[in-house]
Amino acid sequence: MWLARAFNARLIGVDFSPRALEIARRRALDFGPAGRAEFRPGSFEDTGLPAACADGVVSMDAIPFAADRAAALAELRRILRPGARAVFTAVRPLPGHPKYGAARPGWPELIRRAGLELEAEIDRPEEPGLWERLYAGLTEHEEQVRAELGPAGAEILYDEVRSADSTIYLRAASLYVARVVE
Ligand SMILES: C[S@@+](CC[C@H](N)C(=O)[O-])C[C@H]1O[C@@H](n2cnc3c(N)ncnc32)[C@H](O)[C@@H]1O
Repeated sequence: MWLARAFNARLIGVDFSPRALEIARRRALDFGPAGRAEFRPGSFEDTGLPAACADGVVSMDAIPFAADRAAALAELRRILRPGARAVFTAVRPLPGHPKYGAARPGWPELIRRAGLELEAEIDRPEEPGLWERLYAGLTEHEEQVRAELGPAGAEILYDEVRSADSTIYLRAASLYVARVVE
């Protein structure tokens, strides 16, 4: 929404969570007149958007959740116009992480396989500290957050907070810029 406002762009947000869509719709009202941003249900593998409709795709801390990463990147490529770029964040496990060494292709390889050109892979060394601060804040304000989210949402969130440990420092985060070759 910050980017859409800065570039005077029309924005379509896609998420499979009704709650995330509801929050985004409410939040968008802080950014400008209603109608410039819309939020639709869809998944990474099937956004429901027409082919070659997007001048750009931005995805923060989301694509690694896709059950099928190759299908997610294929869908991303399908909705981008020729020459358009996708910018997204992803993490990879480092030695010592329980998932290190799992035989699956890395993001640069997946990007190439999807028919995209990897223009940049930018390290985000600040990323683990960001999660640590977020989890510390959630712990500090647990009572208030639980009251706001209700029992079901809070349980999922605090399971994540409690299971987060030093493994957040055993992964490398990057920002990827991938372009559809014309
Ligand atoms: C960590 S949040 C990041 C959300 C947002 N980019 C932000 O920075 O606030 C990850 C989001 O990805 C969504 N998500 C996870 N798996 C998904 C999937 N398979 N298809 C669509 N959305 C998905 C979740 O519902 C959640 O809203």
